[in-house]
Order: sequence, then structure tokens, then C-alpha cells
Amino acid sequence: MPTETRKRKADHIRISLSHNVQAKSVTTGFEDVNFIHRALPEIDKQEIDLSSTVVGHKFAAPLIVGAITGGTKGASKINATIAEAVEELGLGMGVGSQRAALEDKELEKTFSIARKKAPTAFLIANIGGVQLINGYGLKEVRKAVEMIEADAVAIHLNALQETAQPEGQTNFAGILEKIGEIAEELDKPVIAKETGAGIAAEEAKKLAAVGVKAIDVSGAGGTSFAAVEHYRAKGAGNSSQRRLGQVFWDWGISTAVSIVEVSQTVNLPVIASGGIRNGVDAAKALALGSCLTSLSQPILQAAVMGVKETSSTLSLLADELRNVMFLVGANSVESLRRIHIVITGKTSEWLRTRGFNPESYARGARN
Ligand SMILES: Cc1cc2nc3c(=O)[nH]c(=O)nc-3n(C[C@H](O)[C@H](O)[C@H](O)COP(=O)(O)O)c2cc1C
Repeated sequence: MPTETRKRKADHIRISLSHNVQAKSVTTGFEDVNFIHRALPEIDKQEIDLSSTVVGHKFAAPLIVGAITGGTKGASKINATIAEAVEELGLGMGVGSQRAALEDKELEKTFSIARKKAPTAFLIANIGGVQLINGYGLKEVRKAVEMIEADAVAIHLNALQETAQPEGQTNFAGILEKIGEIAEELDKPVIAKETGAGIAAEEAKKLAAVGVKAIDVSGAGGTSFAAVEHYRAKGAGNSSQRRLGQVFWDWGISTAVSIVEVSQTVNLPVIASGGIRNGVDAAKALALGSCLTSLSQPILQAAVMGVKETSSTLSLLADELRNVMFLVGANSVESLRRIHIVITGKTSEWLRTRGFNPESYARGARN
């Protein structure tokens, strides 16, 4: 079993690096989010404050690296590289699911290397929500946190991925209650995190009610885990799973919609992820109501090249974000989050149909 988990993790990395596993027909929705250019910004670009404080931690910029990996030798190097880059830049990162290391102590170092290389950065432990139904409890979550001396733990929700993988665990009955038990008992903030299919208002409300401290929407429009599993099934000659991965490739709620659904429904910090690829995307995610943005696939690609490439990818994003803030006259992340934006197209239509008011964003109000 541990070997199986390890192999699956290695497959995910290999496939994500060698195949195009990005969403095809579903988009992030950021193309429907429009800034109003300010010809008179009335601020000094150099004075813009990019910092953002979330769950008590001050990030130098509202950027983190989303959960990717752990459990293999290659993964250890990736975690070390990302950790070094985020430490240098004052950002944060999530490690990948720590299940492999909970099954095999030998693998702990592939995760704990992150804390070694990033003594002060915000680190997020990671555990699958479905594992809480299959025997994991507070003890295992605590162990995952201790393993990397984490500042928070993400409980990932990956129903889509579980359906798309042959060995998937598809009994999610009782998952909310289990998340609630952890949120209540653990002395670190629990983040509920999707893995590329988004979170709707109804689920956000339930998660807030059981005590999670932040929500990472991980919406559709970026990396598709159905696509990753499609290629895994193809490699294994499993034709029905291969078809399933193809059919569900573009399943999910777009990232833009998901940010609005969650941030307009609950009073919790929202982390935006799923298809954020540059500083303009990040700025749009913040203007829609998130307070941190997170990327995985582009950072994985940079991390296999080295620390320099990883920090320069993240620095470029921060520079692009600063540029947007200058052009819209926002001198802090807080003011960017209240800026006037125009939501159009399919995103606007969806939001209206779901009872939200896209026009309120054009007046700088949120609802
Ligand atoms: C290779 C790979 C492995 C991942 N493994 C995990 C994981 O173990 N736990 C988790 O919560 N999310 C995992 N994710 C999902 C990401 O954290 C993120 O939610 C998703 O990729 C969307 O972001 P992106 O479009 O920037 O890649 C993984 C993503 C990739 C690309």
C-alpha cells in the first residue's frame, strides 16, 4: 500500500510535467473580470504595499505555492526548492498530501525538508478529507502538522479526482462532521481546500459552520486532476478510467465564480487557486474577494529547474501584481479588494442566476 501511494504521487508529478493537463473548455472566468484603468492613479508605484495578513501571518505579498508533492526522492527536491524560494521572498507554501509519510516513516524527511529550508515561511500541512473517513483522525493530522512544524493544515477535498482514479476512495459520507472534529480539536487553523473543481456557496457555509478558518477554492480553469488521471489510466491500459478522465476533464466551478460564491457567503479568508498564471490573474482574484492567491503547476515547472527559476517566477508575479495595483490606483491589497471592477459574460450570468449581484462590484461595493 505505501508503495502504491508513492507511485501514484510520482505519476502525478511525471504526468503534470510531461503532458498538458490544463483545463480545455472550462476557463477560470478571469477573462470576464475587467479592471477600470485609472489615467490618474495618484499613487507612487514604489510605495505600494503588497503585504497581506491572513490567519495571523503577514505575507510579503499575497502569494503562496499550493500543495504539490512529497513522498519520493524527486518530491523532496521539489519541496526543498520551493521552500528555499518562499523563505527568501517571505511567502508561504503547502506540501502535498502527507498520507505517504503517515504510512511510511522513512518518507517523513521528504516533507520535513520544507521546514528545514524555510524556517520562518508559512507552511501548510496537507491531508485528504476522505482519509478522515477511512481511519485517520486527530492523531494523524497532528502528526502531519508536527512533521513540518506547520502553521496550518489544509484538508483537501478531491471527490472528482477520487472518481477518476482506479484506486479512488469514493465514500465521502460523513466528511463534514470529521472535518469539524479536527477543526475543533486542532490548535492550528484548518483550511478546507479543493483540488481544481471549486467550492460553492452552500459548501462554504457548511465548512464555516464546523469551524474551518479559511477556504482555498481551487477552482476549475487551471490544472485538471481528471486530466492527470486520464493519462495515468492511459498508461495503465485502463480504457474505462481513461474515458472517465476525458469526459470529466473540464468538470468544476470556475475559479472566479468560486471566489465570489465563497467570499460573499462566509466571513472567512478566501485563498484563490486554480489557473492563476500571472499577476493580472492574481489581482483579479484579489479584487473578487480573496486575500491570498496560490499557484501549483507553474511553480512545479519552475521548481524542477531550480531555486533561482522558482523565485524569479514568484517575483515576476509579484511585480505584475504591483503593476496592476498602480494602474488601478490601489496602494494596498486591502484597497485592491475594494476596487471597482466590471464582471461580464458567463461569470456575470452565473453569479446573477445564483443570486449574487455582479453589478455591486462595479460600484466598489461587495454585495
Ligand atoms: C502534481 C500535482 C500534485 C498535487 N497534489 C496535491 C495534493 O497532494 N494535495 C492537494 O491539496 N492538492 C494537490 N494538488 C492540487 C493543487 O494544490 C491545486 O489545487 C491545483 O493544481 C490547482 O492549481 P493550479 O491550476 O495552479 O495548478 C496537486 C497539483 C499538482 C499539479
